[in-house]
Amino acid sequence: MSLIPDIPDGGRRRSRVAVVLAAGKGTRMVSRLPKVLHRAAGRPLLAWVLDAARAAGCSRLIVVVGHGAEQVQAECAAPDVEFVLQAEQRGTGHALAQAEAALAGQEATLLVLSGDVPLVTPATLAELAHLSEAGEAGAWGAMAVAELAEPGMLGRVIPRPDGGLGSIVEFRDANAEQRAVRLINAGLYALPAPQVFADLAALTPDNAQGELYLTDAPTAAARRGERVELLALADPAEALGVNDRAELAAVHRRLLDRHLLALARSGVTVLEPARTVVEPGVEVGADTVLHPDVTLLGSTRVGGGCTLHQGAWLLDTVLGEGVTIFPYSVLEGAEVAAGARVGPFARLRPGTRLGEGSRVGNFVEVKGSELKAGAKAGHLAYLGDATVGEGANIGAGVVTCNFDGEAKHRTEIGRGAFVGSDTMLVAPVRVGDGATTAAGSVITKDVPAGGLAVGRVRQKNLPGRLGRRRPKTETIETETES
Ligand code: UD1
Ligand code: MG
Repeated sequence: MSLIPDIPDGGRRRSRVAVVLAAGKGTRMVSRLPKVLHRAAGRPLLAWVLDAARAAGCSRLIVVVGHGAEQVQAECAAPDVEFVLQAEQRGTGHALAQAEAALAGQEATLLVLSGDVPLVTPATLAELAHLSEAGEAGAWGAMAVAELAEPGMLGRVIPRPDGGLGSIVEFRDANAEQRAVRLINAGLYALPAPQVFADLAALTPDNAQGELYLTDAPTAAARRGERVELLALADPAEALGVNDRAELAAVHRRLLDRHLLALARSGVTVLEPARTVVEPGVEVGADTVLHPDVTLLGSTRVGGGCTLHQGAWLLDTVLGEGVTIFPYSVLEGAEVAAGARVGPFARLRPGTRLGEGSRVGNFVEVKGSELKAGAKAGHLAYLGDATVGEGANIGAGVVTCNFDGEAKHRTEIGRGAFVGSDTMLVAPVRVGDGATTAAGSVITKDVPAGGLAVGRVRQKNLPGRLGRRRPKTETIETETES
């Protein structure tokens, strides 16, 4: 769905193309990874920007790559994304100029975005495009600005008395008076193509960084009397860019907070948002309670009415309705049905499926196994490559010995079976429905349904008490080095 409104006032409706500048080195990140691939809320910075452009209905997505181009292309490739190379990074203006050939004279509104400004919303992009296209004569372009309490090293925006742009001064080129300005350039623009390329061709690198600044193009347009609209961001956080790790952390937190707020509005209790990580792709149902230090990652989906206690860590996991995860449990690639209870200190590895009302308790590890409805493994067990039937009970210390040094084998435990504490189930092996294994057994043969298997050395009680006194230890004299 496009968020771009129709233009009712006779303005120009042009095709909209996103150009994302993502070629810079990001020196202040001090990293081998290209800046735009650093992750915030689980995804590369660039992915957030591309999503916003997509949702704003851009007909093309052009990404200007340079530093680490191959890596960026590999990570962010998609059928709707085109890449353009800026072989030498000579500044943001030079970066945008690299898109000229790809646009080949196309009349379009360019939504120019920075790959390191990931909080931008589709609504802002739509508004920017609209501003630059509206009106009879039309503005030359539009750019997003924000009033920040701590404007840091962002470009300062000096407006004209009529509210349009006067000039943009980069922090490094600004004098004390200009640095005191708190209105900043968010690095988000709607610019006309092909006209803007003439302005870019006229850029010169006579500035503190010796670069071709994109910001000099709107400044030049304003100086010759054209109108450049300023869009004040309703939420100044949208302007936050990532130029160092502190800014990365700030942006990461903001992206998470946005999602937590949306979840809270949809009926999820988040007790301490600042201590909760729920990646934006994760769904959580109403009346679920998230205690502090819960981490929900990847494609995790949590049903309604669940309680996730402190320290629950879930990756790519699906929880049904009314599931309880007790503290410090780690779940990855697991499916947990309604009403099941897990933990504390449980570990569910990929391929685990827990049936309705089942129970996995403390220090139990499960991998590639299914526990059917009502089955229980309460304490200290390893269940690997196993099927546990409905209502079966797995005693403390039970281990499925699933690996023979070369291959993995399956263990099948029947419905209502009782696997005694410390049973070693040497796979492949089956324990039939309703069968029992005696505590401490090593089970190497199938146990028939309803049977009792005892697989351990018979206890011997011998007369007398042997070894009541321990022999004295002899003192052995050794030579010491001098
Ligand atoms: C830029 C703006 C500044 C604005 C800020 C907002 C300029 C000159 N300054 O500064 O006014 O307040 O963004 O975040 O535009 N890039 C390239 N090729 C290059 C240089 C940069 O593709 O040669 C890309 C970077 O990868 C980055 C984006 O352009 O994604 C912005 O570059 P960056 O160096 O971060 O500019 P800022 O100093 O943040
Ligand atoms: Mg930047």
